[in-house]
Amino acid sequence: MATNPKQSDPKQSQPKPLDELFHDMLKDVYYAEKQILKALPKMAKAATSPDLKKAFETHKAETEGHVERLGEVFELIGKAPRGKTCDAILGILDEGKAVMEDYADSPALDAGLVASAQAVEHYEIARYGTLKAWAAQLGHKDAVKLLDETLAEETKTDKTLTQLGGPANKAAVAKAA
Ligand SMILES: [Fe+2]
Ligand SMILES: [Fe+2]
Repeated sequence: MATNPKQSDPKQSQPKPLDELFHDMLKDVYYAEKQILKALPKMAKAATSPDLKKAFETHKAETEGHVERLGEVFELIGKAPRGKTCDAILGILDEGKAVMEDYADSPALDAGLVASAQAVEHYEIARYGTLKAWAAQLGHKDAVKLLDETLAEETKTDKTLTQLGGPANKAAVAKAA
């Protein structure tokens, strides 16, 4: 029968299906959200504009909900909620940390914070968009709903940041002049 040594190990011989890819990305985003949860209070503390501070605080509360929703999605697919190191988010958050350090006393600080935060949101929007499409493909209707709720909050936050970016950029130029 199975003379091919590759066939003797089902893990080796069978290509990984989409549901495994979905589970892997879920772990990636779960890890990312937990890192973001740690970064947002630091960004709120660093921001000089009260509106920007408030936006970070509001999104921190929403992010707690994102972690919870992901926990529910894990449950829906019968898996324990677990994260997997996501180098992409670590890199994005490291850049944000560098902005906070390098521009601590600069009038351009808020503009830099908005830019860093938007990079985070865009990463999340990309990931949730993909997860939602894959959940639909795999027939996880309840997961689609949960992922879509989070996606809507990430998109709204991105729009808020765009609005706050205008005054932040203006302030940076005015104070520098
Ligand atoms: Fe999030
Ligand atoms: Fe977010």
